[in-house]
Parts: sequence; structure tokens; C-alpha cells
Amino acid sequence: MLILAFSDYLPQAQRLAASLNLPVKEVFLHHFPDGESLVRLPVDLPEHVIVCRSLNQPNDKLIELMLTANTARQLGAKRLTLVAPYLCYMRQDIANQPGEAVSQRIVGQLLANLFDDVITVDPHLHRISSLDQAIPLQNAVSLTAAEPIARFLKQQLTHAVLLGPDDESEQWVAAIADKIGFDYAVATKRRSGDKNVSVTLPAFDFADKSVVIIDDMASTGRTLAQAAELLMAAGAGQVCAVVTHPLFCGDAEQHINKAGVGHIWSSDSISHSTACIYLNELLARAVRVIM
Ligand code: R5P
Repeated sequence: MLILAFSDYLPQAQRLAASLNLPVKEVFLHHFPDGESLVRLPVDLPEHVIVCRSLNQPNDKLIELMLTANTARQLGAKRLTLVAPYLCYMRQDIANQPGEAVSQRIVGQLLANLFDDVITVDPHLHRISSLDQAIPLQNAVSLTAAEPIARFLKQQLTHAVLLGPDDESEQWVAAIADKIGFDYAVATKRRSGDKNVSVTLPAFDFADKSVVIIDDMASTGRTLAQAAELLMAAGAGQVCAVVTHPLFCGDAEQHINKAGVGHIWSSDSISHSTACIYLNELLARAVRVIM
């Protein structure tokens, strides 16, 4: 077996390789001036190849995955496993207006055509209950980062209140709180545009408490920023944030910092300066199970 890595995700692939005691080789990538990608794989591939790359900023990466998977098959790989801790295009699961692409199903089918197994972490699934409904594969594996996040928080804080900023986050907040015996509460959120959210805090006494906002992803950062502003106004002692997938687009971090968030911690599902919660052991366990 071999792990194929890309330069934008090399440290994470190396950590996964170390956990699995497997060799790792890098895919050579070149972007032509017109935006096309050239992909070159090592030619001596074993039967089972793990491709490790997260799918944030997905449009180029999906094409490059297609080129990689097809070339790996031509070079003799019989089984291809994709380890993509962040899985793209999972949010659009219905056509909100006539004619809209249901991206989750289309991208899911594309990945199922290319790979034998797909392993990801906390994919953003709204209206479906299991990943194989989006990626029709027997081994469509959805992991949760609750355990590594809980372990990390326990090392950082003796006690804190965990806050989920919306209904969807309750699954993660409750699981993390349960593992380490922290209290938790869940806010409600209404989104009226990409950068417009309205958060309402639950009835809970946040005064002088350390509060950690927990979310599966931060994109524009508006959700975290608004929850933090409300918590500061409610007298919280300190406000920190943990996100599984640190997309942090544009001025997201600026907004979050301005709102008074002391620390932003995230998993290494995406390369980012806040990524300090490593997922390699979680991913390695899942790879061992499907092997
Ligand atoms: C939403 O449903 C997710 O769980 C996140 O709360 C959301 O994607 C965060 O987005 P933003 O950072 O743009 O507010």
C-alpha cells in the first residue's frame, strides 16, 4: 500500500502515513497559465493506493482527483481509497429553485465512480442520514472529530460551557460535552444571505463563564462572530472557538477576532494557521477497518 499526497496537504498525509506505517509519495502538480492542471504520479504503484487530499477550494481539486484516479488505475492500482477529511459540495442537497444542480448527489456520484472507498470527517449532511446516500459506495465512511476535539479541549480548559451556534451543531456539541463532562447549550440561527446570519442565544447564564463555540465549519466567520458578540454582551468571561473545518474565507478571521474570540482552534482537516487538532489517528483507525 502507498499514500499519494499533494503538496497542499503533505504534512497531514505524512502524519497519516506515519500512523499507518505506510510509505508516502507526492503527486507532481503543475498549473498551466490557462488554468489547466498537469498531474504526474509515481509509476510504480502498488495494488492499493490511498489518495489523501482535503477538498476545500474544490473545483480544481476535483479535476485533479479525476486525473489522479484514472492515471492510478492505468498504472495498475486495483483499489483506490480517498481520504478527504473535508468533503466539498455536501451542503447543496436539494434544488431550492427549478433548474438548480443538486451538487451533493452529482459530486457524490463522481467520487463513487473514481474511488472504491471514501473516508471523510463530519461532512455537512442536512437532509440525509448517512454518507452512502450521497456517495453510493459500500465504504463511504463518515467519521466524527468529536473525540480528538474533546481530548484537546480537556487539555486546554478545566471547565467551560460549550455553545453550538445552531440546531445542526447540537450533534457535535452534545457529543463533545458528554465525553469531557462540560456543560453545553445550543443557540438558534437564521441565515438570510452568505454573510447575513442572526443568532439568538439560549436561556443560559453565561456570565463570567469560559465559553467555547463549537461548529463544524467556519466559512465567512459570521456565525462565530455573531455568537461571540452576543456572549460578550451576556458577560462571558472568555470566548473561544473550535471548528472542525477551518475554511475561513476572505475576512472571516478579522470578524471573529473583532468579536472578541480569544482563541480559535481547528482540526487539520484543512491546512490553516489555527489547525492544531490532528486527525491522523482517527483517519488511520478508519483505514485499518476498511483494509
Ligand atoms: C451551518 O449550517 C454550518 O454549521 C456553519 O455554521 C456555517 O457553515 C458557518 O458559516 P459562516 O462561517 O459563513 O457563518
